[in-house]
Amino acid sequence: MCPLGWLGVATLCLGTLWAVPAKERRKVEKPKADLTLYENLDLDNYDLSLDNYGDILDLSNYEELYDYGDLVPKIEVGTLAPRPKEPKTLPELGETTVGTPKLQPPSGADPVPSAPIPGQALPCCLLCLCLGSSVYCDDAGLERIPALPPHTQYLYARFNRIGAVRDRDFAGLEQLKHIDLSSNSIRRVDDDAFRMLPGLRELLLPENLLGALPELPRSLERLDVRRNRIPSAGLRPEAFRDLKQLQFLHLSDNQLDFIPVPLPESLRSLHLQNNNIRTMHEDTFCDSQDQGQIRRALEDIRLDGNPINLSLFPNAFFCLPRLPTGRFS
Ligand SMILES: *[C@@H]1O[C@H](CO)[C@@H](O)[C@H](O)[C@H]1NC(C)=O
Repeated sequence: MCPLGWLGVATLCLGTLWAVPAKERRKVEKPKADLTLYENLDLDNYDLSLDNYGDILDLSNYEELYDYGDLVPKIEVGTLAPRPKEPKTLPELGETTVGTPKLQPPSGADPVPSAPIPGQALPCCLLCLCLGSSVYCDDAGLERIPALPPHTQYLYARFNRIGAVRDRDFAGLEQLKHIDLSSNSIRRVDDDAFRMLPGLRELLLPENLLGALPELPRSLERLDVRRNRIPSAGLRPEAFRDLKQLQFLHLSDNQLDFIPVPLPESLRSLHLQNNNIRTMHEDTFCDSQDQGQIRRALEDIRLDGNPINLSLFPNAFFCLPRLPTGRFS
């Protein structure tokens, strides 16, 4: 590992950053509708990361939606150093390192005597921008998760062509807090790909081709898998029960036909709109045996765009601070 190498690249990139004239720096617009949606929630800790958190991700102006929640104050989009558009034009190192699984040396002896390539310490920063503990790989033509620096906390790899997340992609990256793989082509996630990340708080996988969810780490606070193809059979039984920190569960625009239960008490926002939910159990949200129950946190439930007639469940919502959106008729 060569921390100086990282530093060098970061410095280089920062140099480019400051060289951009101020007038070319562009403000990131916040979609107004989203702010309305969340205005009643206590967003102390989520203000930055939820700014762009809408139901409709309009790809025609996705540049406006870049949202680097880790940077305070914000670094504006236009200031990021340009990435090479054509990975093929990079030295071969760039190509090979993308597929190289790990930065960490294998624990066993490597039978192939590997050449002392200094670039082994720079796996992703040729294609991505590494700043501090954040790695920015948006729209970089990636087909796989690149090898990441061991101290990575935030990964942004949106708008690529990544097709799968494999067990080893994040192995050993124990400091990861935030993974954003929005708008890729992910069909498959290995079962252990995320489970072993002890500090993962936000996992964002909207606009992919997922048909199932893998096991999730208990540290998760926000899970976004909007706009995938997940049927109810693609969720593990009681998939969210042990996620005691989970506050935002966004599963809209999938193929679910029932509401996943049980829902953790920590949950504040449950988005299930545009699925195929026809019915529900009276105890999905509230415990019918405990009429004194109050579930103050859960104030944002969306069930619109489902065939379910919510009027058929008059006793299902008594503990909630607000009725779900959906069809009552
Ligand atoms: C929904 O359920 C209510 C209560 O049973 C009923 O009066 C209403 O007609 C139903 N609406 C539809 C569209 O089925």
